[in-house]
Amino acid sequence: MNSISLTIDKALGIVTKEQVYAQENKATECIRQLHQGTGAGNDFLGWLRLPSSITNEALAAIENTAGALRRKCEVVVVTGIGGSYLGAKATIDALNNSFDWLEKDRQNPVIVYAGHNIGEDYLYELSEMLEGKQFGIINISKSGTTTEPALAFRILKKQLEEAVGKDEARQRIVAVTDARKGALRTLADQEGYQTFVIPDNVGGRFSVLTPVGLLPIAVAGVNIRELVSGAAFMEKATGEGVPFRENIASIYAAVRNELYKSGKKIELLANFHPKLHYIAEWWKQLYGESEGKAHKGVFPASVDLTTDLHSMGQWIQEGERSIFETVISVETPAHKVIVPTDEANLDGLNYLAGKRVDEVNKMAELGTLLAHVDGGVPNIKITLPEVSPYYIGQLFYFFEKACGISGYMLEVNPFDQPGVEAYKKNMFALLKKPGYVI
Ligand code: PA5
Repeated sequence: MNSISLTIDKALGIVTKEQVYAQENKATECIRQLHQGTGAGNDFLGWLRLPSSITNEALAAIENTAGALRRKCEVVVVTGIGGSYLGAKATIDALNNSFDWLEKDRQNPVIVYAGHNIGEDYLYELSEMLEGKQFGIINISKSGTTTEPALAFRILKKQLEEAVGKDEARQRIVAVTDARKGALRTLADQEGYQTFVIPDNVGGRFSVLTPVGLLPIAVAGVNIRELVSGAAFMEKATGEGVPFRENIASIYAAVRNELYKSGKKIELLANFHPKLHYIAEWWKQLYGESEGKAHKGVFPASVDLTTDLHSMGQWIQEGERSIFETVISVETPAHKVIVPTDEANLDGLNYLAGKRVDEVNKMAELGTLLAHVDGGVPNIKITLPEVSPYYIGQLFYFFEKACGISGYMLEVNPFDQPGVEAYKKNMFALLKKPGYVI
């Protein structure tokens, strides 16, 4: 099996290769701290060895529950927010057919999401869509106390119980939460729901390879064993003994930190493959929550290309020179579409006739890279041989490992998120939750 790869040549200029390689000792020390558990946030390092330590039994239990939901449900609602839904959505969107929710005889239940916002219209329309449908719920919250998913679950649970009765609803609800604490744990135990545990030492944004991500992904029909196996490959490829120059997680961490120090404060994660949109959303949470502390941290932003070249392209090309770009490039698409010949050629596209659409996309990608680098936007490239569970697994682990190293290089604790509490305190006080005042 092949590996995802990293190219940094086009990121060099404003920072030099020597500057990047001069980070070797620091990056190596950061990896050592991660592996030996001596750095900040060391009680949240469970993700580090997750791929190599997931047992066959654990995967089989997830697959069995997923199978039961698949048999019973045409729609499965995943309630969760942040790390409790982004990894699943990123994987399912990347790997499943974008339009199969429209197919009557589709093989997989449609996966929809709730509790990732507090939109009343969203919830209304979701409930309306679920009327008369066979649906189930996977309720995911590590803390078990997050307002958004708890609120959505309360509404959906009532709807499900009214539709199929309490006993059958119990068969269609699965909770993924803490082993002991939190309101969701109490509720699940009292109602007798099947539960999966999120390990104490795995934070939300690092939890995609726990049942948080794996259960919905398996319900969607994606092969979770290949996903985990890709992640396990990357766990080894970015391990403690791997030399700095061969460790793509260290190199990525070193380059982005050097670019940050040189004034490039914003990282744009770009893709030329629309199905990767939510990979970028997952990545933004991972890096934003891990590094945005102590008034420091690269701001993680994202664009879908070529789509956003027609909206953000001007800014990227000629706006403030505070950005660098990391492109996720997919070598081989899963399908082939050839541009047809048209006798009249009124659109003037016959020069493309006979070519694959992907060839046009690749030239757009190359043209964009050259233009952006010329315009002063350093470019890092991550190449995925193809969009498959195996390579998505590699990509997840690569980004997680690089994030841990990068956070330590920046001298922040990459595993906490104290700032997330600020809005909650105000919201609770405004809603008159007992015990809260502004
Ligand atoms: O990274 C984190 O830990 C958070 O952003 C969580 O993912 C998010 O707040 C959801 O939390 P919970 O799973 O406890 O409901």
